[in-house]
Amino acid sequence: MGDLEKKSKILIFGGTGYYGTYQVKACVAAAHPTYVYVRPFKPHHDPSKSDLLQEFKSLGVTIFEGELNEHEKLVEAIRQVDIVIVTLGMPPIMDQLKIIAAMKEAGNVKRFIPSEFGNEVDRISPLPPYQACCDQKKVIRRAAEKSGIPYTFVVANTYGAYFVNYLLRPYDKKSNKVAIYGTGEARFSCNYEKDIAEYTVKVATDPRTENGLIIYRLPKCIITQMDLISIWEKKTGRTMEKTYISEEKLINLSETLPFPDNVPMAILHSLFVKGEEMAYDLKEDDLDVVELYPEYKYTTVEELLDIFLADPPKPVLAAF
Ligand SMILES: NC(=O)c1ccc[n+]([C@@H]2O[C@H](COP(=O)([O-])OP(=O)(O)OC[C@H]3O[C@@H](n4cnc5c(N)ncnc54)[C@H](OP(=O)(O)O)[C@@H]3O)[C@@H](O)[C@H]2O)c1
Repeated sequence: MGDLEKKSKILIFGGTGYYGTYQVKACVAAAHPTYVYVRPFKPHHDPSKSDLLQEFKSLGVTIFEGELNEHEKLVEAIRQVDIVIVTLGMPPIMDQLKIIAAMKEAGNVKRFIPSEFGNEVDRISPLPPYQACCDQKKVIRRAAEKSGIPYTFVVANTYGAYFVNYLLRPYDKKSNKVAIYGTGEARFSCNYEKDIAEYTVKVATDPRTENGLIIYRLPKCIITQMDLISIWEKKTGRTMEKTYISEEKLINLSETLPFPDNVPMAILHSLFVKGEEMAYDLKEDDLDVVELYPEYKYTTVEELLDIFLADPPKPVLAAF
C-alpha cells in the first residue's frame, strides 16, 4: 500500500454540489480524513445546504469556509491536506486556475483531480455550446499539466442516476411517456455516481494513475436508450409511449435557444445521437478503471434501475 492510499487527507471543492456530495461521502466511507471548502452560508441560501453541511460535520468532515478568490485562505486550507479533488459545476469551472495557483504556492499537494467527470474532452467534437464547456475543461487540463502538481484526469462518462432520472422519470409512476434522442441506438456508459465517486477515491490515491487519464467504461453499464427503456418496461410491467426527437431538432435547438439552455441540447446530441463517449478506441497509455480495480463490484444498469424502482428519486433535473 502506497503512502497516498493509507491515510491521505482529501480536500474537496464543490462538495455541496450534485456530484460533489457523492464524492465527499465516498472519501469518508474509505476512511480518509475529509475536508470541504465551501462558500460562507448566508441566510438567503437554500436551507438544505445548511442541513447538508451539518450532515458532513456529523460524518467527521472538516469544513473550511471561503470564496475561491481568497488566495490566502485557499493556500491555508490546501496546506493541511494531501489530495485535492474539485467537483465544481460549470459556471465556476475556470476558478480552478485559482486553485491551481494556490496549490503551486502551497507546494504540498500529491494529487490533483480537476472537475471533469464527463467526456474525454480532447477526443470529442460536440456541437458548439457543449464544445465551449469542453474547451474550458481543456484549459484546466493544460494548466494542470504545466503546474508540476501530480494530477489525474477522470473521464467518468454518463452519470447513471442523473440520466436515468432524466430519461425514464421514475418519480412519475403515472406517466408512460419517454423521449428518445436520435434513433436511440447509440451506446453510452451509464455509471452510477456512487461508483464513480468510490472509484475516484481509489484513483486519487493510486501511484499508477499519476499524471494519467483514466476512463470509466463499465461493461455492464454500457447501454443504448432503446435497451434501457426495454429493461425498464420489463421491470415495471409498463409499456412506454415513445416520442422521437430527431438529430435535426436537437441541432436546431442548440442553435436557437439562448445560453445556457442551448448547452443541454448539445450534450444530448453528443451522448445519445453521436454516441461520442463510446466512439473512440482507448490508446495504449489510457488507464481503464475496470482493469485497475477488478475487485470493485460496480452497480450494473439493471441494479441501478432496481434501486430506482425501490426508492424513486425526486425530480432533480429541469426537463430539456
Ligand atoms: N458525466 C455526467 O453525466 C455529468 C453530468 C453533470 C455534470 N457533470 C460534471 O460533474 C462536475 C460537477 O458538476 P455538478 O453538476 O455536480 O455541479 P453542481 O451541482 O452545479 O455543483 C456546484 C458546486 O459548485 C459550487 N459553486 C457554484 N458556484 C460557485 C462559486 N461561484 N464559488 C464557489 N463555489 C461555487 C456550489 O457551491 P454552493 O453549494 O455554495 O452553491 C456546489 O458545491 C462538473 O465537472 C460537470 O461538468 C458530469
